Amino acid sequence: MPNFITDTFTPPLLPFSEGGYDFLWEVLSPTSHYVLVRKEKVEFFITIKSKDNNHVIKGEKISRPSQVLFLQQALQIYASRAKCNALFSNLKPSKNSRKIKNSISKDINEQNHTSSDEIYIEIGFGSGRHLLYQAKNNPQKKVIGIEIHKPSLEQVARQRDALGLENVVLVDYDSRILMESLPSNSVEKIFVHFPVPWDKKPHRRVISDYFVEEALRVLKIGGALELRTDSELYFTYAVDTFLKNEKADVRIFKNFDLEISSKYEDRWKRLEKNIYDVILRNHQTSVEQEPLNTLHFDFYLNTDKIIDRFSPKLFKGEGFFVHFETLHTKGNEVVVIKTAFGANERAEHSFIIIDKNKAAYFPNNIYATKANKMAHKIIAEWLYE
Ligand SMILES: C[S@@+](CC[C@H](N)C(=O)[O-])C[C@H]1O[C@@H](n2cnc3c(N)ncnc32)[C@H](O)[C@@H]1O
Repeated sequence: MPNFITDTFTPPLLPFSEGGYDFLWEVLSPTSHYVLVRKEKVEFFITIKSKDNNHVIKGEKISRPSQVLFLQQALQIYASRAKCNALFSNLKPSKNSRKIKNSISKDINEQNHTSSDEIYIEIGFGSGRHLLYQAKNNPQKKVIGIEIHKPSLEQVARQRDALGLENVVLVDYDSRILMESLPSNSVEKIFVHFPVPWDKKPHRRVISDYFVEEALRVLKIGGALELRTDSELYFTYAVDTFLKNEKADVRIFKNFDLEISSKYEDRWKRLEKNIYDVILRNHQTSVEQEPLNTLHFDFYLNTDKIIDRFSPKLFKGEGFFVHFETLHTKGNEVVVIKTAFGANERAEHSFIIIDKNKAAYFPNNIYATKANKMAHKIIAEWLYE
């Protein structure tokens, strides 16, 4: 994460604009500031934490833009305005830090998929070798890559642009949450290659009962969820999970070569590890479900009351939770609450910004999944109390 440490800091007067970046406002808490920055349509926070005579200035994690260049440039501009004397800095854009031509999306349904689209999805594509191979060799398919690791998203976006692959859509979101937002009977293949095994925290695995249920709903008849792994534990876990279905068509292959080998695969092959494919084919049409809406707050709020009432809080419900973590304010004009909420094992991390008495999630829209809807109700009730 780009950041720098400075021993001089004169907070610049906001708002100001420079070099295509708008620095809009800042909110404070006893321990840190957030400054809201806008570049084109992308908004993100930079944070300032002060300790003794030093100030650490960096990108904020939840709102980190997919393009690191935006963060590096915003921090450079801010540092010069704040008359910082950098004791340490890693803000120099690397040679890869050119702007990406086609954006990385935060919303999979932004693409307006039609029923004639032939869709492949790859979850956790990492270096993107398999994803780009599929896109190049199947130009008629729309190949959607879902990743949470921003440097991988950025790297693959550059390769997509360089190869001119118009049929690749990259989405920056946790695939475990995203599955529920997709329309039913719409996808031909879902690839999950070499997922993180999470042997000690199995609840964090991409594959789960819930994921399989959603995958089967989303897949067309004859469509398949294809897991490839080197982990024997993950392999047996996936077989067990797939076989829990009433009607399961599961095929297993051992040490079967694909046309393209990923970085991870090359490593495991060098170590002579076994590689397993477990393929679950769908044979049923699911009840139609339109793409999910996103959640919004429709009412005006009294920020004074919220500021008075706020303390970190955890609400636990049946299968979901809401955690109000921190509060930052700009007088009583703007309130920023850092939250985590949603399904216990698939948390959303988001801010709630209340500006001019209207609340909104930031930086992303939040899908109205079952767990998110229940959490949103608690959040709205608490805000409105
Ligand atoms: C071990 S790497 C494998 C990468 C690639 N599939 C390959 O074979 O080289 C696992 C990838 O999954 C991504 N990942 C982990 N959890 C995810 C999630 N919930 N949604 C989307 N991607 C995820 C990680 O960021 C990482 O890039």
